Amino acid sequence: MGLEHHPALIEGAVEATRKYGTQFSSSRAYASLGLYQELEERLGQMFQRPVLVTASTTLGHLATLPVIIEENDAVILDMQVHNSVQMAVQMLKAEGISATLIRHNDMDALEEKILQLRNKHQKIWYLADGVYSMYGDYAPFQRLKELMDQYEQFHLYIDDAHGMSWTGPNGTGVVCDHLFYHEKMVLAGSLNKSFASGGGFVAFPNAEMARTVKNCGGTMIFCGPIQPPMLGAACASTRLHCSDEILPIQQKVADLVDFTNQRISALGLPQFEVTPSPLFFIPSGLPRVTYEIINRMLKDGYFINTAAFPATPMKRGGIRFMVNGNLEQSDMAQMLDALAYHYPRVLADEGSSPEKVARPSPSPNSK
Ligand SMILES: Cc1ncc(COP(=O)(O)O)c(C=O)c1O
Repeated sequence: MGLEHHPALIEGAVEATRKYGTQFSSSRAYASLGLYQELEERLGQMFQRPVLVTASTTLGHLATLPVIIEENDAVILDMQVHNSVQMAVQMLKAEGISATLIRHNDMDALEEKILQLRNKHQKIWYLADGVYSMYGDYAPFQRLKELMDQYEQFHLYIDDAHGMSWTGPNGTGVVCDHLFYHEKMVLAGSLNKSFASGGGFVAFPNAEMARTVKNCGGTMIFCGPIQPPMLGAACASTRLHCSDEILPIQQKVADLVDFTNQRISALGLPQFEVTPSPLFFIPSGLPRVTYEIINRMLKDGYFINTAAFPATPMKRGGIRFMVNGNLEQSDMAQMLDALAYHYPRVLADEGSSPEKVARPSPSPNSK
């Protein structure tokens, strides 16, 4: 969203620093600055649910998952769920909780697993991302809602770190845009990305769950808080998201995403999936092919990102880039012209082709 230079956020950081200094050295469960209360209240109004602010999204997962997932529960993970969620699952496994991976967004496999597990476990938790951080595609929200409605034991823990701010009412993100808030869903978000400040948060279905995680979550007890400058910026950012000022900024990003999608299509470049999200993924296959494209782009002056093994399967890597509110259409057009020049040449040099690296067709029931 390009909010990192917004005067209100800078002022929020400066004011909080003047008032509280650069550091407040105490864990959340023990004591916290009043700014936390302001932030949690405003996020609570935005999500219409109790919200717990955490020092980062990763630390939010590590505090929440071991507390809300109990001995008799089972966990199913999408194979592309963010690494920060997968780290928390290692803690669950160490406690003997059963965890199974399913293929990316494969809702038929998910339903089959639910049917296998539902008589043996109290709750079945599915761990997913709202916008997947590598491919930029969405979780199949409609199917997830149907599964939550259909199977009593089925619950959703969803990380929408990439979906925040650029969409949804008050920037509440892609998940809220599609599901609004299902009572069997726990939603993790980020203040570290488009909110242009620091920290993460988790929105819970009820106040008791939020309070238990606040008091019992390992990283709430043993880790430090968001420090005053970023806490001040986060308060200013949520205030901005609750005002009409956010609307033209969201619109600018949405227009730039539209422009980028159209340009990619006109240039004949493939995408993993065309979505309204500002995160783009052009499949290129093996890591050596991906790195060669990235290096040639770097020589032309464009710093774009690799999505390669182990963040993707070995042969399913690609070129990953984001649009943001600091960029103009002309920036995207120039970058994409350079990419359209190098991409087919590198693939041909490596004995590959856009057809060979394209995404396998998704199952018709995966949406
Ligand atoms: C989906 C997702 N979740 C969590 C994280 C980690 O966030 P944090 O840096 O706030 O721990 C990231 C970081 O890129 C992410 O993409």
